[in-house]
Amino acid sequence: MGVTAVASWLSLGEGSTPLVEARRTEGLHLKLEGLNPTGSFKDRGMVVAVERAAESGARAVVCASTGNTAASAAAYAARAGLEAVVLTPAGATAGPKRAQARAAGARVLEIDGTFDDALRLCRELGARDGFVLVNSVNPDRIAGQKSVAFEILEQLGAVPDVVALPFGGGGNVSAVAAGFAEAGVAPRIVVGEAAERATTWASAIRIGEPAHAEHVAELVAAGRVEVVTLTEEQLRAEWERLAREEGAFCEPASAAGVAALRLRVESTQGALAVAILTGHGLKDTAAVDEPGADTVAPTLDAVLEAIA
Ligand code: F0G
Repeated sequence: MGVTAVASWLSLGEGSTPLVEARRTEGLHLKLEGLNPTGSFKDRGMVVAVERAAESGARAVVCASTGNTAASAAAYAARAGLEAVVLTPAGATAGPKRAQARAAGARVLEIDGTFDDALRLCRELGARDGFVLVNSVNPDRIAGQKSVAFEILEQLGAVPDVVALPFGGGGNVSAVAAGFAEAGVAPRIVVGEAAERATTWASAIRIGEPAHAEHVAELVAAGRVEVVTLTEEQLRAEWERLAREEGAFCEPASAAGVAALRLRVESTQGALAVAILTGHGLKDTAAVDEPGADTVAPTLDAVLEAIA
C-alpha cells in the first residue's frame, strides 16, 4: 500500500501512481499522474477538499477550470452527494474533460471570458453560504497534492536530484515544494510554463495570471524553484517525444516539466531525475493530428502497400 492510500470515505483510489524509468533518456523517471481516477493529479487534492466541504455541511463545490479540476471536482462531488458548479473559459477546454464533468452531473457553465475571469467569479461564488471553492487557492487541495512528493521519495528509495513539472496557476508547484520541505529534503525543482500563457496550445495551462504567482516568485527567490519559459514548439516537440519514444501519452500541458528539464538540466546521466506527467493523453485527443481519409481495401496487398 502506497503512502498516499487515503483512508477517506470519499476515496476513488487516487495516488500510488506508477513511477517508470524512461527508456531513451538516462536517469529520467516519469511519474504517471494521468493514472489517477479522473486522469490527472488533481484527484490527490480534490478528495481532501471535497471531503472537508461535505463535512462542513456545504451544498455545492465550485471551481474555475481549464478542464481537469472540473472533471475531478465533479467526480468527488457526485460521490459525496454535493452539487458541483464549474466555470470554464468558453471554447477553450478539451471536450473529454467537459464530458467527464457533465457525466458526473456537474453544472458546467462556459464563461465568455478567460480562465482568470472564471476564477474571479468562483472566488465570489465560493464566498456565498453553502458554496465551497475547490480551486487550489483552497489549502486542502495543496495539502492533498503534497502526497506526490512523499510517494516519489518512497518509490525511488532516494532523494531525486531534480524534479520537473508544469507551472500553470502554480498550485502544484507550491504543493510539490511544500511536500519535499515537509519530508526534510530539497531536490532541485524545475518548472515549465508556456511563454504564450494566455493562448497556449496546451489548454490545461492556458492561464494568464497564475493564482500562486507570488508564492512561486518567493520559491524562486529562495532558490527552491527554477522557472523555464517554453515556446509552443518546445512544448509540442516534447509531448510528441514522450508518446513516440516512451509510450507515455500525456496531455500537452504535462510535457512542460520534461521540456523544462531538457532545456535547463545539462544531463540526467548518472542522476535521478523525475518528471511529473500531470494528465492523461486521452484528456485531449484533439491535440493528436488525425490523417484525413486513411481507409484501405480489405486485402493484404492493400495493407502492405499502405505500410510500405
Ligand atoms: N497539468 C495539467 C494536466 C493541468 O490540468 C494543470 C492545471 C496543470 C498542469 C498546472 O497545474 O495550475 O497547479 O500549476 N489545470 C487547472 C485546471 C488549471 O483547471 O484543471 P497548476
